[in-house]
Amino acid sequence: MLWTDWNIQWRIVGAGQHNGDIADMIIRFVDASFQDRGEPLVHPRLDGALRDLYGRGSFSGKPGEAVSLPTLGLIPQPYVLFVGCEQAPLSDQALRHAAGTIGNKLLELKVGRADIVLPAGQPAASAAALMEGLLLGLYRRNSLAVGGREQAKLEQVSFVLEEGADVEAWQDVLQRGYAAANAVCYARELTNVPSNLLTPELLAGEARALSERYGFDCTIYDEKAAAAEGMGGLLGVGLGSANPPRMIVLRYVGDPGSEQTIGLVGKGITFDTGGISLKKAEGMEEMISDMGGAAAVLGAMRAIGELKPKVNVVMVVPAAENMPSGSAFKPGDVLTTYSGHTVEVLNTDAEGRIVLGDGLTTAIRHGATKLIDVATLTGAVMHALGDLTTGAFTNDESLLGELRQAARFAGEYVWQLPLHPEYDRLLKSDVADVKNHGGAWAGAIAGALFVRHFTEGKPWVHLDIGGTAWMWSDRGFESKGGTGVMVRTLAEYVRLSAD
Ligand code: BES
Ligand code: MN
Ligand code: ZN
Repeated sequence: MLWTDWNIQWRIVGAGQHNGDIADMIIRFVDASFQDRGEPLVHPRLDGALRDLYGRGSFSGKPGEAVSLPTLGLIPQPYVLFVGCEQAPLSDQALRHAAGTIGNKLLELKVGRADIVLPAGQPAASAAALMEGLLLGLYRRNSLAVGGREQAKLEQVSFVLEEGADVEAWQDVLQRGYAAANAVCYARELTNVPSNLLTPELLAGEARALSERYGFDCTIYDEKAAAAEGMGGLLGVGLGSANPPRMIVLRYVGDPGSEQTIGLVGKGITFDTGGISLKKAEGMEEMISDMGGAAAVLGAMRAIGELKPKVNVVMVVPAAENMPSGSAFKPGDVLTTYSGHTVEVLNTDAEGRIVLGDGLTTAIRHGATKLIDVATLTGAVMHALGDLTTGAFTNDESLLGELRQAARFAGEYVWQLPLHPEYDRLLKSDVADVKNHGGAWAGAIAGALFVRHFTEGKPWVHLDIGGTAWMWSDRGFESKGGTGVMVRTLAEYVRLSAD
């Protein structure tokens, strides 16, 4: 499997308690008022040094700031890291970001063992956010250069809790954060692998490895099986490539008595050249991330495998490579999809919606009673919401309400865009049931409308991660490259559905 878990031993320690070896670094959260309050932090001389830095204007205790000092024998740990943050107790999101700053620093400073002293009054419920920020801040994209990636040296973390803290609750919630963070790193890793090393077939192999690790049912339709089933959308998009498409299905049964099955469908275009409607060369390398939706649902399955919630899930990834060639599909072609509905192809670069249509039909045929799809579907959503917020569309406000609640808990931004019936005419075709391109305006909405065509009236949410799946530079605990966006939201949604 592409991502093995972080090899980090973590434990909970009571205040003033020492067990075993001494860490390389002690970490303290410091808010902007530290210097008026004058409370002791680690040692009078080190606290004095920090106040001196405050006086010079180089550390003010604001979120995002961090300063490390050598402790020169004043305390057992040879280094201290002061991390700026909001006033305690921190909100989950503030703690996640502060922990991300810690992760970045521990990577940069090559720290092997760290003691993290939690702010006073911090509730156990925020422990997942702490673990997520820390581990995601440590992650960097793999490098295939000699020497490999910038690799975190962290192998041991002690979380130092105040007296009277509920250690068991902290343990449980930290564990949940650990599972979520590993799932996000897995999704990032999948997204970051270049397309020559991650073809549809190899992506299917990843899903199979996941099924073996967690005991999911796994069905993979190769191009022959897909043809026998009539998956004309997936096959049409895959026609131009020497790497044939795959329809990938994983099934997790956590609640055999229930009729409900959540369908998670992720766009798995392993590379999107645009096909005959070829993209421009500049920046095209980002299109290795056009399977970011697939990475999100595979990541969610990894978290589900770890946490084993009492729900049923079917995950579907339609995987294909969109290439121009003598065998490629062309503008003007009409495809018959798995649903039986026909599609007029006006632009071969609007390929994601076509494979997703067959993905939704596959999920329904495998028993999905509600549908959530995740896809790097449009560049247009980036014009609307930038690289910070995922666009959401639905035919069922209550399902979207639940998903937005999950996103809030997970600390991921999701914003709804409309599907007013007046937009329907965008995709009216003269020669088929629907066309795949709606013109220059409302591109993200047109993409969503196309996908809605394949929902068979089931409750459905579409998450367009066209702006959020990939970062061009580091941002907080998100490193350059794949973000693994929506893994935490989906995992949280599934967990909340279980109770
Ligand atoms: N994968 C792209 C969308 C995309 C572009 C995501 C840039 C992230 C960054 C998708 O297949 C696509 O090409 N969409 C077109 C649709 C258009 C031709 C209707 C787009 O958004 O330009
Ligand atoms: Mn495209
Ligand atoms: Zn695409």
